[in-house]
Amino acid sequence: MTNNVDALFKPFSYKGLTLKNRIAMAPMTREFSPDGIPAEDVAGYYRRRAEGGTGLIITEGTTINDPVATMSGKIPEIHGVKPMAGWENVVKEVHAAGGKIMPQLWHVGMARNPSTAPFPELPSVGPSGLIQPGKKVAEPLTAAQIENLIEGFALAAVDAKKAGFDGVEIHGAHGYLVDQFFWAGTNERTDEWGGSMANRGRFAVEIIKAIRAATDPDFPIVLRYSQWKQQDYAARLATTPQLLEEFLAPLADAGVDIFHCSTRRYWEPEFENSDLNLAGWTKKLTGKPTITVGSVGLNGDFFGAFAGKNSPTRAVDDLVERLEKGEFDLVGVGRALLQDPEWSNKIRDSRHEDMQEYSGDALATLS
Ligand SMILES: Cc1cc2nc3c(=O)[nH]c(=O)nc-3n(C[C@H](O)[C@H](O)[C@H](O)COP(=O)(O)O)c2cc1C
Repeated sequence: MTNNVDALFKPFSYKGLTLKNRIAMAPMTREFSPDGIPAEDVAGYYRRRAEGGTGLIITEGTTINDPVATMSGKIPEIHGVKPMAGWENVVKEVHAAGGKIMPQLWHVGMARNPSTAPFPELPSVGPSGLIQPGKKVAEPLTAAQIENLIEGFALAAVDAKKAGFDGVEIHGAHGYLVDQFFWAGTNERTDEWGGSMANRGRFAVEIIKAIRAATDPDFPIVLRYSQWKQQDYAARLATTPQLLEEFLAPLADAGVDIFHCSTRRYWEPEFENSDLNLAGWTKKLTGKPTITVGSVGLNGDFFGAFAGKNSPTRAVDDLVERLEKGEFDLVGVGRALLQDPEWSNKIRDSRHEDMQEYSGDALATLS
C-alpha cells in the first residue's frame, strides 16, 4: 500500500461546496428506516463515517414524494414532517463531527415490485411502462405525471436545503426512473421526452433546472449516472466520446455542478485508445468536477455484495496517481466505508495493518 496519499486529503472547493478532503461516501441503500423515517441509529451510522474522516457523505437513496417512488417501507423518505425531522438530526450529527452531507434523491420507477412495495394496488411508473427492454407492464407516464415528478424532485431539494444538507445528489443511475428516461432500452416515447439523446435527457435537465430555480444559484447539485443498468450490466448510454459529450452537454448546461460517474472498477478505461475512466472522460468533456467510484480499496466489485460476497483489500496507489493528475476530483467509497467507519482516517495515517476486508455480513447491521 502507498504511503503518499496526500492528494486524497487536499481540501476541495467548488461554488457553494467546501470539503476537507476528497473522500465521498457512496450512496448505499440500507433499509433501516421503518416507515421511511431515519432515526437515531441512522444518524449514528452516518456520524461515525464523518468522525472517521470522510469529507462528504452521500446518503442512501431517499425517496421523493410520490407513492410509488419507493420499493420498501424501510427506505428513508425525503418529504413529510417525521422523515425530515429525522434527516435534520442526521445532518446535525454529521456536521458536529466535521463532515458534509447530501441526500441522494431517488425514484425507483419501474424497478419497483408492486407486490412487495407500499401501495401494492398502484402500478409502477416509467417513461414507457417497460420493466426491461421489450417487457411492458404498465402504461407510459402522461405528460402531466412527468411534470409532477419533476416538481417532486424540486420539492425534495427544497426540503433538503431546509434540513441543512450541503447539496443534493440526483440518482440518475443504475436503471431507476431518471435512467429509465436516459436509456433507449426503457424509453420508447415518441414525444419530447423520448427518441433523441437530447429528448431522453430532458427529464433530468428539467429536474436540474427546477431544483436550481427552487433553491439558489450556489446550492450544489450532483448528478449520478452510469452506463450500466441493473436490467443489463453491459448496457451503455454512450459508446463513443462524441456520444458521451452529446449526452452530458445539456445536463452540464442545465446546472449540474458535479458529475458522479458510477462504474464497477475505477481503473478500467471507458473508451479505446485512452486510460481515462468514465469520470475522467466526463471531466474532460464538460469541464465540471467529477467523482469516480468503483472498488476503491477493494479487489472484488460490488455486484457480489448483494449475494453476501466478501472482498479482499486493494492498494490505492493507482487511484492517488489518477487523482494527482487531475483525472477526477473526488473519490466515492462504498463497501469499504460500509465495512469500516474509520476507513478514511486509516488511509490517511497509513494504518495498513488495520485495513479490513469487506465482509458480506456487513449488510446485516447498521454498525
Ligand atoms: C449495499 C449497497 C447498496 C447500494 N445502494 C445504492 C443506492 O441507494 N444508490 C446508488 O446510487 N448506488 C447504490 N449502491 C452502489 C454504490 O453507491 C457504489 O457505486 C458501489 O457499491 C461501488 O462502490 P464500491 O465498489 O466502493 O462498493 C449500493 C451498493 C451497495 C453495496
